[in-house]
Amino acid sequence: VKHYAVFVGSGQRRFSSLDGSGAERLNIQRMLKVNRTLYIGDRDNLYRVSLEPATASEMRYQRKLTWRSNPHDISICRMKGKHEAECRNFVKVLLVRNESSLFVCGTNAFNPVCANYSMDTLEPIGDNISGMARCPYDPKHANVALFTGGMLFTATVTDFLAIDTVIYRSLGDSPTLRTVKHDSKWFKDKPDKGWAVHWRSQPWRPSPRWSLLQVVVSRVARVCKNDMGGSQRVLEKQWTSFLKARLNCSVPGDSHFYFNVIQSVTDIVELGGRPVVLAVFSTPANRSLPSPTLCRCPQESIPSLGPGGPSTPPAWVLGCPRSSVLLLPSAHRPGCCAAPGMRYNSSSSFPDEILNFMKTHPLMDESVPSLGHAPWIIRTMTR
Ligand SMILES: *[C@@H]1O[C@H](CO)[C@@H](O)[C@H](O)[C@H]1NC(C)=O
Ligand SMILES: *[C@@H]1O[C@H](CO)[C@@H](O)[C@H](O)[C@H]1NC(C)=O
Ligand SMILES: *[C@@H]1O[C@H](CO)[C@@H](O)[C@H](O)[C@H]1NC(C)=O
Ligand SMILES: *[C@@H]1O[C@H](CO)[C@@H](O)[C@H](O)[C@H]1NC(C)=O
Ligand SMILES: *[C@@H]1O[C@H](CO)[C@@H](O)[C@H](O)[C@H]1NC(C)=O
Ligand SMILES: *[C@@H]1O[C@H](CO)[C@@H](O)[C@H](O)[C@H]1NC(C)=O
Repeated sequence: VKHYAVFVGSGQRRFSSLDGSGAERLNIQRMLKVNRTLYIGDRDNLYRVSLEPATASEMRYQRKLTWRSNPHDISICRMKGKHEAECRNFVKVLLVRNESSLFVCGTNAFNPVCANYSMDTLEPIGDNISGMARCPYDPKHANVALFTGGMLFTATVTDFLAIDTVIYRSLGDSPTLRTVKHDSKWFKDKPDKGWAVHWRSQPWRPSPRWSLLQVVVSRVARVCKNDMGGSQRVLEKQWTSFLKARLNCSVPGDSHFYFNVIQSVTDIVELGGRPVVLAVFSTPANRSLPSPTLCRCPQESIPSLGPGGPSTPPAWVLGCPRSSVLLLPSAHRPGCCAAPGMRYNSSSSFPDEILNFMKTHPLMDESVPSLGHAPWIIRTMTR
């Protein structure tokens, strides 16, 4: 730590010490690094900080944008019984929109909004749009957001009471899509953490989930970027490619020990010529063995497990390599993205039989093993 500069919220020019005394503590929600510039999304503020010179002991912002909730939204928020400290604008989405602008969403006193901002001046460009299904209402709720191919992929809750969890696609030229509403097969509870990365043609998102047994398990979900939704009868305006699977980060032994809480995930990195994600896992906070663990999960096995032979137990296996799978309704394999040259060139041409199968089978039977079937690094007695 002593070698690195810190950011405590001050600007380039020094003001009198009186000025600092009234300053609020930072409440940093998001950070985004673009080359040698860092954007920091705070509560009611957005900062642009240069990472040069690297030798200074304190980083200072070049630009600060104050973006508060408007008084009307604050009064409605208070009327609905929220605390004053929650009825503010927490920056929960901070993304590069194009080479000159950022896409930013804030909770805006439980009425989320999004807008474009200049990367250079941090000034808003154009009007704001609703942040519903793009940004959480409550600053405490987990969310993820990713821009790719001009489309915005978000995972968050869509309502004040945080009942409806979605993975949502919007903006761009393709139709708006969401996950099935109020279906416990798709989402049982709110994810408590999430990351999104995109891989070749598909983005996918890990999120730890509660299973039926109220045991935390680490799951990843994936959707095809080119999904066009289903038919008018089944999965209209909903994902036809949503799939989730458990990540298996465990220590083999007589009593197999699972690390079930994902703490953090990297982007896809190459390791020994193989695309993998590295994830830090831990046990639930109340377990007696506190040990963060690093597992390596082979990326290619996340969307596609298998091939499963006839002895494969109950449900089904995934994957694009063609192999016969008994219980599938037809030649289409769940997990494959429809594409020109495939049997179905668009998800909107899937027969209802396939759509119904996808709707009722969002969870993969097999979990995703880590490389070497064991953690890479384990640290005990530390959080
Ligand atoms: C969003 O835009 C509307 C209309 O321009 C404006 O009234 C409102 O204050 C804006 N909200 C925020 C949080 O900037
Ligand atoms: C942001 O900019 C894009 C073009 O880059 C535009 O399509 C969009 O309407 C703008 N506003 C919002 C709120 O996204
Ligand atoms: C980037 O997006 C902004 C709006 O956010 C738009 O005004 C601008 O024209 C875009 N620039 C390019 C190069 O697409
Ligand atoms: C651990 O925490 C979970 C969730 O908070 C709870 O359901 C469970 O009963 C707790 N277990 C113990 C042994 O305290
Ligand atoms: C998809 O296939 C249909 C015929 O089955 C064809 O009419 C359509 O042009 C194809 N679309 C694309 C994008 O290839
Ligand atoms: C997790 O991986 C281990 C080691 O490969 C295996 O023995 C165990 O059955 C797997 N557990 C699940 C739930 O897939």
